[in-house]
Amino acid sequence: MGELLIGTDRFGRFDWSDPWPTYDRLRAEAPYWQNPEGVTILTRYADCEAVLRDARFSSSNDHADPPMILAEGDPRGFMDGGAAPLIFLDPPDHTRIRKLVNKAFTPRSVERLRPRVQQVVDGILDRAADEGGLDVVADLGYELPVIVICELLGVPLSDRPQFSGWSSDASRLLDDDLSEAELNAGVVAAISFAQYFAELFEVRRADPRDDLVSGLLAAEEEGDRLSVEELHSIVILLFIAGHETTMNLIGNGTNALLGQRDQLVRWRDDPSLVGPAVEELLRFDGPVHLTGRIPVEDVEINGHLFPRGKQAVTLLAAANRDPARFDHPDRLDLLRPDNHQLTFSQGIHYCLGAALARLEGQVAIGSLIRRFPDIERAAPPVYRNHFVLRGLTELRVSV
Ligand code: HEM
Repeated sequence: MGELLIGTDRFGRFDWSDPWPTYDRLRAEAPYWQNPEGVTILTRYADCEAVLRDARFSSSNDHADPPMILAEGDPRGFMDGGAAPLIFLDPPDHTRIRKLVNKAFTPRSVERLRPRVQQVVDGILDRAADEGGLDVVADLGYELPVIVICELLGVPLSDRPQFSGWSSDASRLLDDDLSEAELNAGVVAAISFAQYFAELFEVRRADPRDDLVSGLLAAEEEGDRLSVEELHSIVILLFIAGHETTMNLIGNGTNALLGQRDQLVRWRDDPSLVGPAVEELLRFDGPVHLTGRIPVEDVEINGHLFPRGKQAVTLLAAANRDPARFDHPDRLDLLRPDNHQLTFSQGIHYCLGAALARLEGQVAIGSLIRRFPDIERAAPPVYRNHFVLRGLTELRVSV
């Protein structure tokens, strides 16, 4: 059991493996639930969508009132290497930096990776066939996206064993309720990433290749397009976002299908369902549960006043289960019509890697269930105690 803790207040106890009843209660009883610090938690689809699309809401903590000041030594201060990550920037900096990386992640660029993604998945499933089983989270969910993002960025694949712990520890820093040990592990992870990439940048500066890191280094050397701090920040964000979330799409998605065999069989028997199937898995048990915005002025939306400087948290996962937007939202239905889930957010920060995540989810889960028709859970699934990035610790299956 954990606690839904946002800011300093709590909205009841809730179970990591089943947060949905708490979200339903919030949506039904307190759709604008506010903690004593003035943070408002939004759980209705219409409210989340409106806030995310509204330019009067900022992604930067600079607009918080009172200002958000991290205590000296708080590891979250180490995370951005001196420049706020893209995800916490507003225009015009946001527009400038997103443009530099956008081309590598358009649906067209990503589609070219399909044969390589399939090849990696096939290799993993060959090993699973030999061994009679796999851990869907570690062996497929982690391994596939980390290989793909390493290759895109130009990070040597041989270095990847060391990244797994760092990513998990660093992404836990997105949460509020951290123990001292978790904070310290976060510092170590953040410093390790910064050092690792500083060394890689030196190698690529001396010997540029046809990869994204070399391309971004060239932009940084031109001077006015990207500062060295921004370079660090965007590469670390792409690296962590590029696998930590997709790992959980593959884990949570497979787990959902194993819990609803009729849907698994439906997709297995009709491969053309691949697109809608992954959309429904993203809606049903998405890997990112929330994001936040700060109004830069007083804003009224759907009759509710959002005061300037007070954070609004959009609980994307709760919005995705809003009965006012989705019929029978707790039902996994791969044929669901009009399935515009909010898992990748909305507006100008809409996930840059959405096309890549979709491709990896489609190939990984689709191949897994077709190759192994008798796939079954070998142990009950256990969720990590991460709140913002939701996923399983492991998902052992027999094939
Ligand atoms: C299923 C997997 C994924 C999910 C659920 C997800 C979710 C999200 C969400 C919710 C946001 C926006 C947050 C906000 O509005 O404040 C976001 C932004 C972002 N995502 Fe993803 N993501 C996934 C995979 C990826 C991948 C594979 C990459 C690739 C490199 C990536 C890179 C990014 C980046 C760079 C941003 C910042 C975009 C911006 O601020 O303009 N994500 N993602």
